[in-house]
Amino acid sequence: MGISHLHWLVHQMGIGHQHRLAVHQMGIREVSGAVAAIIIVSLLVFIVKVAIFFMACYKRPIIGKSSDSTQDSRFLTLTMDKFLNDMEKEKPIRFTSQQLRIATDIFTYLLGSGGFGAVYKGLFSDGTPVAVKVLYGSSDKTIEQQFMAEVSTIGKLHHFNLVRLYGFCFEYDLRALVYEYVRNGSLDKYLFKDNKMLEFEILHQIAVGTAKGIAYLHEECQDRIIHYDIKPGNILLDGSFFPKVADFGLAKLCNRENTHVTMTGGRGTPGYAAPEMWLPFQITHKCDVYSFGMLLFEIVGRRRNTDISLPESQEWFPKWVWKRFESKEMGDLVIACEIEEKDKDMAERMVKVALWCVQYKPQSRPLMSVVVKMLEGGVEIPTPLNPFEHLTSENPCPALPPHGAQTSSFLDSDSSQMTTVCNLACETTPIMKKYEIEIASC
Ligand SMILES: Nc1ncnc2c1ncn2[C@@H]1O[C@H](COP(=O)(O)OP(=O)(O)OP(=O)(O)O)[C@@H](O)[C@H]1O
Ligand SMILES: [Mg+2]
Repeated sequence: MGISHLHWLVHQMGIGHQHRLAVHQMGIREVSGAVAAIIIVSLLVFIVKVAIFFMACYKRPIIGKSSDSTQDSRFLTLTMDKFLNDMEKEKPIRFTSQQLRIATDIFTYLLGSGGFGAVYKGLFSDGTPVAVKVLYGSSDKTIEQQFMAEVSTIGKLHHFNLVRLYGFCFEYDLRALVYEYVRNGSLDKYLFKDNKMLEFEILHQIAVGTAKGIAYLHEECQDRIIHYDIKPGNILLDGSFFPKVADFGLAKLCNRENTHVTMTGGRGTPGYAAPEMWLPFQITHKCDVYSFGMLLFEIVGRRRNTDISLPESQEWFPKWVWKRFESKEMGDLVIACEIEEKDKDMAERMVKVALWCVQYKPQSRPLMSVVVKMLEGGVEIPTPLNPFEHLTSENPCPALPPHGAQTSSFLDSDSSQMTTVCNLACETTPIMKKYEIEIASC
């Protein structure tokens, strides 16, 4: 077993960052000893968790302040049994609105809100924290099947760099999604604060993990999933600052694939949305690559791409970076972004990748799996072309390639056309069975 496998094993077992560092420092000879130690520790953790769960179930009232707390307690105990069971089976669970009201203490703790709904923190009786996203819009019965089909697809996706969907609620008064709670919240909180607290190595780790999550959606799912809204607010960070991409599949789920308007009449979020999202051209998975590129500029700069309070950005930051790159004045970037000497090469690599990702023509942008390799230093990065030529040329919006046009290069070995989230047309009942959704009530 190699060190990387051991890292993965440690990850899967939920062991903390410091342990991982310790493992990293171990020599090859100590690996088998470490595996034994990890297995023993994991077993102990598992036994303690089981004990805590049973104590929580049988000894104390569960979340909620209602007078019939004993009934609630029994109800939730059974619910949680089923919940844990289904989590093991990795199926999305159907919750009732009452269960979610109890878990969120009647939607008391708001984590934030965005274009699709408001997110509340919740806690299940076994101590599992969750984030409950209450979706805007009505729970029209006619969309129930479609909703469950999409939930079923999203709920089955498991990747370390994707936020896990535990389940959902679809009732007259509540349409919600129940996600794993990601401890450190969204990346924007850290990037755009004045104190620039994230080390460059961590920023690089976030960029690579995010790229891996998107690459999984694009290239490893049975049916390609386009995110449509990659931005710092949708990158969540766990306790060790590993990134998890949030809200994938949501555009389709909310029937907003073509209409997600967050500000001014276009699709996606201004500043991150690819040009083709705003123009009447075909949209492919490459729109996510563009948004990732914009995100990458913000990660390198630890600043918003548009921030007129910063001297180097009376101009748009990506264009400012391109000019420095083109005239080989990357030193300016290092100074402006307070990048340490030791991180210079890594920063330059990230800039080159960002410039490739935001190329005007979608087919010139790399695949996300190639982006991962480039960020990790596994492949040499060719010198990027000017992504902003169209902004200076006579024709500010040159035609994008027609539907089906392909120019494959090493950056884009997969030139297949757009496919979207699963098209599970629903012609049979019971649909719950069909979509492998379990009910969380007793
Ligand atoms: N699973 C989660 N764990 C912890 N915090 C979360 C989770 N999901 C969302 N949040 C928090 O809730 C905030 C609001 O999320 P929400 O997705 O509603 O808005 P957004 O990401 O800013 O916009 P958009 O609707 O375009 O995705 C996030 O910025 C994040 O801080
Ligand atoms: Mg979001």
